[in-house]
Amino acid sequence: MRILISKSTEDTQKIGLNIAKKIKKKDIIFFIGSLGAGKTVLVQSICKGFKVKDFVNSPSFKIVNEYKGRFKIYHIDLYRLNSTKEIEELGLEEYIYGEGIALIEWADKLGKKNLPEKRIEIKIRIKNENERYIKWQRYC
Ligand SMILES: Nc1ncnc2c1ncn2[C@@H]1O[C@H](COP(=O)(O)OP(=O)(O)OP(=O)(O)O)[C@@H](O)[C@H]1O
Ligand SMILES: [Mg+2]
Repeated sequence: MRILISKSTEDTQKIGLNIAKKIKKKDIIFFIGSLGAGKTVLVQSICKGFKVKDFVNSPSFKIVNEYKGRFKIYHIDLYRLNSTKEIEELGLEEYIYGEGIALIEWADKLGKKNLPEKRIEIKIRIKNENERYIKWQRYC
């Protein structure tokens, strides 16, 4: 487990670029943290690290955005979903366990029984307006 301290949005973007270097094909990455913690900032910078040219933002009308960079990337945001049942009905498995990389915001909503055994969890905690604690842990 590693804990990093980010003192600005730019710090978090640099952390995202470094995370991109550690990610391999088929990795599943969870982003957990409250509103405005910086999950999307991290996803955007990780995608930049993967040379994604598409516009990266949380899917607003869909649940999954698909980007093409060095790998196929599935950006999933579960914020608007209310129950694990609703999430199970979406059939996200094809993305999560597909050939690409899955970046999942609000992944804590998946519920314990749907947790992939292999995953990287990134937890972001807001310390104050500009500072964040970023905790990284690989489960395998
Ligand atoms: N150290 C920091 N790291 C990341 N973002 C920061 C930091 N300091 C300030 N911010 C600001 O916090 C906001 C984070 O927004 P972001 O959309 O990434 O959050 P989020 O976790 O995805 O929230 P949501 O759950 O609403 O989607 C941005 O406006 C960003 O500029
Ligand atoms: Mg977000």
